[in-house]
Amino acid sequence: MKPVQLAVIGAGNVGQRHVRAIQTSADVELCAVVEPSIDSLACLDLNGIACFDDAASLFENLKPDGVVIATPTVHHLQPALQSLAAGCHLLIEKPITTDLDESNQIIEALAGTSLHVLVGHHRRYYQAVQQARQIIQEGRLGKLLAVSGQWCLKKHNEYYEPDWRKQWPAGPVMTNAIHDIDLLRFICGDIQSVYAESSHQVHGFEKEDVAAIIMRFNNEALGTFILSDQAPSPWAWEYATDENPAVPGTGENCFRFIGSHGSLDFPNLTHWTSTLENGDWFAPMQSSKINNEYHNAFQAQLTHFAAVIRGDEKPLISAEDASRSLAVTQAVLESIRQGKRIDLVAS
Ligand SMILES: NC(=O)c1ccc[n+]([C@@H]2O[C@H](COP(=O)([O-])OP(=O)(O)OC[C@H]3O[C@@H](n4cnc5c(N)ncnc54)[C@H](O)[C@@H]3O)[C@@H](O)[C@H]2O)c1
Repeated sequence: MKPVQLAVIGAGNVGQRHVRAIQTSADVELCAVVEPSIDSLACLDLNGIACFDDAASLFENLKPDGVVIATPTVHHLQPALQSLAAGCHLLIEKPITTDLDESNQIIEALAGTSLHVLVGHHRRYYQAVQQARQIIQEGRLGKLLAVSGQWCLKKHNEYYEPDWRKQWPAGPVMTNAIHDIDLLRFICGDIQSVYAESSHQVHGFEKEDVAAIIMRFNNEALGTFILSDQAPSPWAWEYATDENPAVPGTGENCFRFIGSHGSLDFPNLTHWTSTLENGDWFAPMQSSKINNEYHNAFQAQLTHFAAVIRGDEKPLISAEDASRSLAVTQAVLESIRQGKRIDLVAS
């Protein structure tokens, strides 16, 4: 089978991960990179690969099957519209765009075409995530009552040197919690309302140091989530899964799903039930570990992208679905600003 031809637009931190994943995958082949920075290009082995300064030059010269967009979020929209106009399928890094007006422009540009837009919420590709979704949706915990989660770590001081990283769009809610929100929507179902508070006692920047979120899901389950980019702790997705080579893993769980008939420690998938049918607190609890291996989710995402382009698989995440994760994340920030619960329009 001929590998699917992919171009990458934006080869910084995450774009380089995509380029390397493409270069080590049999399903896809790198045909071009669009990147204006020589420093970014110098980090990659691009011998024989066409390089362009801008997306327009790419499409004047080549017609890839698919395009990966990994430019800063404020620069997602333009190359996305150019790629769709050129007839290319898209994998856009998360968040899909900075706001819903922009993501609607992408959805409108897609209408009437046979093209697909995936969004880089790569956690959906972990086996543990798909297993947890299945366990909860099959009712193996009984009725889902609650979920609690943490994403707490300390980012290095140099991270905050650029001024834009001190502002709220680069804060941990928009940058990091959007992953957790998308994960929770995927596993538990959609979120109907959020209330959140933040504090700024470490940095004193516009962006939050800590946020606490309360959420209500459509199925009436309640959730709490604490996040901080200023708190060394072993409880964050990157620690649990060891997915980021720069962040040494701890293997500690960072979510608990709690049901009327049992609970699930996640992502290590320890399933807790009572030894008694009625589950009273007098009976000892018992646990069983569900088998799970962490694979490279970036690679799995690319394999899926290739299968979607070939028409062999349906998208695991669409532009509409990713826009909903963006809307919930924006509602968290809106709640912080207004000091009240925000009800989301039903999806
Ligand atoms: N999936 C994840 O886990 C994850 C993690 C971090 C960041 N991200 C997302 O990835 C995107 C990129 O983040 P990053 O940390 O890699 O940023 P970055 O600043 O490290 O890299 C962006 C690159 O895009 C280039 N660029 C800027 N404008 C461009 C344009 N118009 N055309 C082509 N290239 C252009 C820059 O020169 C730079 O090399 C953001 O949307 C971010 O939210 C995703």
